[in-house]
Amino acid sequence: MDNALDYATSHTDAFIEQMEDLLRIPSISTDSAYKDDVRRAAQWLADHLEGIGLQHAELVETGGHPIVLAEHVVDESRPTVLIYGHYDVQPPDPLELWNSPPFEPTRKNNTLYARGACDDKGQLLMPVKAAEAYLQGEGDLPVNLKFVIEGEEESGSKHLVPFIEQYQDRLDADVVLICDTAMFDEGVPSITYGLRGMAYVEVHLTGPNRDLHSGTYGGAVENPANALARLIAGLHDDQHRITIPDFYENVRPLTDEERQTFRELPFDEEAWMRSIGVDAVRTEEGYSLLEAITARPTCDVNGVWSGYIGEGAKTVLPAKASAKISMRLVPDQEPDEIAEKARRYFEAHVPPTMTLEFRDLHGGYPVLVDTEHPAMQAAAEAMQGVYGKEPFFTREGGSIPVVADFKRILGLDSLLMGFGLNSDAIHSPNEHFGLDRFEEGIRSIIRLWDIYAQQSA
Ligand code: BES
Ligand code: ZN
Repeated sequence: MDNALDYATSHTDAFIEQMEDLLRIPSISTDSAYKDDVRRAAQWLADHLEGIGLQHAELVETGGHPIVLAEHVVDESRPTVLIYGHYDVQPPDPLELWNSPPFEPTRKNNTLYARGACDDKGQLLMPVKAAEAYLQGEGDLPVNLKFVIEGEEESGSKHLVPFIEQYQDRLDADVVLICDTAMFDEGVPSITYGLRGMAYVEVHLTGPNRDLHSGTYGGAVENPANALARLIAGLHDDQHRITIPDFYENVRPLTDEERQTFRELPFDEEAWMRSIGVDAVRTEEGYSLLEAITARPTCDVNGVWSGYIGEGAKTVLPAKASAKISMRLVPDQEPDEIAEKARRYFEAHVPPTMTLEFRDLHGGYPVLVDTEHPAMQAAAEAMQGVYGKEPFFTREGGSIPVVADFKRILGLDSLLMGFGLNSDAIHSPNEHFGLDRFEEGIRSIIRLWDIYAQQSA
């Protein structure tokens, strides 16, 4: 292991330059204008994986963006780690808020600014570079490795489950390693054991057959924008609980023990609020801020549009109003069931003067991983070796739906070992990744594989 660690230290500059190469490719999966760039990023990775000495890497066609699949078997008797990551990124807009162009990686104060720097290109390169450090520095790997790197994570992962089902045999492993989450705070190492799930829906209300003069028709024709606003406002009650009937039906209550560990985490509410420019928060009554953002379900409008939104005034009664709504789920809520409950809420409240179109866009199951899992314990020991202190086990509010799919289809648990920070501005302008954390991540993974292999031997 020491040679691998030395190799990582002496090649840090090259690693960062390679990260910059990957970040220059605008692999925005949701926008078809970038289809070729998305493929270019996949090809870059497949070439790179073979370049560092892995036995095999290929692009698997999916009907959407390709999946990068790579394998390296050193010895059947050693444990196999399946690494999952995503090479696609969120759209960078609003562009005018970036201090440097999103696809021209820029270094400042040992931090790298670019779309995807943290989520997830920078992070997914950490296990890649750990593998290189072993293969080039040590000539051997303590574990067998498989890589599944998808290009549709930020747009719903439509082709991933069929791929996992079809490639089930080749994906055989002992555990999944995912570097796509955050540490609890700067200098506060942590391992994520919980993620929220997701039900994402779209609602359209249509009234008259065209936009109308708001003077000629206003007062009699019910306005879809007004009606949608009422429906949205009704989604929460005064306790800030979600009003969709039976929404909380399957929510597993937090145990006293878990709530106690939440209270013991070094969470600075004031600093958290300051960092996003708010003076106060609104949580579901009876729950702390940390519980509300990681372990309780949500219902949020992500986008809403209707009528005239250009400059100045236009007197118009819009024919249509629409909203995109995400619901973050916790165990044991089911995405399809929650989307169905939301559908019933809207159907029950849509005024008789208009029609409702309700679309269930995509979903994902919430996850909780057993912190006693041997890989979790090995990860804790590995991070202790790098940070000199024991990591916390934490839950996070974001979603990685494939974690539940790996469990359901392959029977595999996932180790969520991320090195981002909530302040890294993922999905926002000026996304960045601290280069210290990139190095710490690589070193942690190098140690993890060594400990995990010894443990399994
Ligand atoms: N890397 C994030 C997931 C994440 C974010 C985990 C923050 C922990 C903390 C991932 O790329 C992502 O954004 N996922 C989507 C999934 C959704 C489209 C189903 C998310 O959480 O919005
Ligand atoms: Zn991500």
